[in-house]
Amino acid sequence: MIVLHGSPRRGGNSDTLADYFVKGVREAGEVEVLDFILNDMNIRSCQGCESCATSEGHRCAIDDDMQEIHAVFADANIVVWATPICTGGI
Ligand SMILES: Cc1cc2nc3c(=O)[nH]c(=O)nc-3n(C[C@H](O)[C@H](O)[C@H](O)COP(=O)(O)O)c2cc1C
Repeated sequence: MIVLHGSPRRGGNSDTLADYFVKGVREAGEVEVLDFILNDMNIRSCQGCESCATSEGHRCAIDDDMQEIHAVFADANIVVWATPICTGGI
């Protein structure tokens, strides 16, 4: 299971909800949990180069911390997106 922590506030609402979810899954059985604190990672935006669609192995051309996530994302049986809405009123 991968948990993508999207908020810059460590221990905030998103983290708290994610923690409860992880706790519940763990109660149902043994599971490996990989946490990614996105705010602490160096991840650039998609450049629209389409390397992911056209290259052999479909790899992202950007060599940043996203590669760590790519390496485990495809094999994860559960992916948790724990992120607040911060659009300013929607
Ligand atoms: C700059 C900013 C913009 C926000 N905009 C929205 C919004 O548009 N809609 C909403 O429901 N909540 C909005 N919120 C509230 C956050 O989504 C909410 O406080 C969330 O629980 C924060 O998560 P965190 O504790 O994990 O950081 C906003 C919060 C911030 C700081």
